[in-house]
Amino acid sequence: HHYVAIMAGGIGSRFWPMSRTNYPKQFLDILNTGKTLIQWTYERFAEFIPKENIFVVTSDEYAEIVATQLPDLPVANILGEPSRKNTAPCIAYISFKLQQMDPQASLIVAPSDHLILDTIAFRKVCLEALSFVNKHNAFITLGIKPTHPNTGYGYIQFEQHAITDNVYKVKTFTEKPNLELAKTFVASGEFLWNAGIFIWQVKNILPAFEKYLPEMYEVFAAEKEKFNTSAETEALEAIYPQCTNISIDFGIMEKADNVYVIPSSFGWSDLGTWNSAYENFEKDYLENAVAGNNVVVIDATKCMVHVPDDKLVLLQGLDDHIIVDTKDVLLICKKNKEQEIKEYVNEVKRKK
Ligand code: GDD
Ligand code: MG
Repeated sequence: HHYVAIMAGGIGSRFWPMSRTNYPKQFLDILNTGKTLIQWTYERFAEFIPKENIFVVTSDEYAEIVATQLPDLPVANILGEPSRKNTAPCIAYISFKLQQMDPQASLIVAPSDHLILDTIAFRKVCLEALSFVNKHNAFITLGIKPTHPNTGYGYIQFEQHAITDNVYKVKTFTEKPNLELAKTFVASGEFLWNAGIFIWQVKNILPAFEKYLPEMYEVFAAEKEKFNTSAETEALEAIYPQCTNISIDFGIMEKADNVYVIPSSFGWSDLGTWNSAYENFEKDYLENAVAGNNVVVIDATKCMVHVPDDKLVLLQGLDDHIIVDTKDVLLICKKNKEQEIKEYVNEVKRKK
């Protein structure tokens, strides 16, 4: 009864210009590893979950990319959403669908665009979590020891004594705090980052939707008989325009009182921005991270350079910059301005 839902509908805007709305970062090989992020994600799960039980929930417009990149995955397991409404509707959809297929389903919900280095440790934690949620009405999150006050993450405060082995009851869950709060959290030493990977039983998460997102729940419930029939697409087209745009973190995790955490270390990185890619690249002796075969660097330090292999690039005298070249766009941006890339892109769109 073990299932996985890989969420792959985000647009990865801070990774522009490599990540584009029509081809976002989960479908890219940002770190030059030979496989895309979603391919690594799928393989990690396919090692211990039968592929018939792995689902990818994505935007309709990415369904074909998913099919091409994951030829092993049964096509029926690629679930397309008619519009982008963030992660709560995505999780409601797979939950209502699974509820019909297998009322005893336990579900791992995972992002498609993260880096996980230690797959064996990751698998162990997932199995531990599954075994816990099979016995308790619990929503498990995986917690990562924070290294800096990143405002893009959820912060988890947990009780000091373990319930069993590695599972701790969560006291507070704070999604994307402001910088001041994030600093306090990290300094206190009591908080973990939410890795964005959740484990629970479908029969337990549905009542949480009913309680904390009742309107969304009703909208799905009204159409649920059409799921797993030829009318499923039609049902989604009726449902999605009525859903509010909200993440599972704000919608449920901040509010539920049965949230638990497993503190984990499996070499996790969110790969949310160019700096996080920089952290994960090998650096030259001047601390530049260079992806691209023909890049000559002279007197430059701490730059993130990502250019096509067939492009010759000479970089001289520039420090702490992001340089990303693609077929049609060149970005040169100060590293400490990377969070603003999102807004710069909006500016570019207005110009074009
Ligand atoms: N199907 C679908 N539909 N997937 C989506 C949608 C959607 O509308 N929106 C986002 N996703 C996918 C993204 O592609 C990504 O794989 C995953 O869901 C998480 O969404 P993000 O938009 O990347 O969330 P976040 O990074 O801001 O925050 C989450 O992850 C952090 C860790 O990386 C939260 O869970 C935070 O609490 C957490 O710390
Ligand atoms: Mg993310």
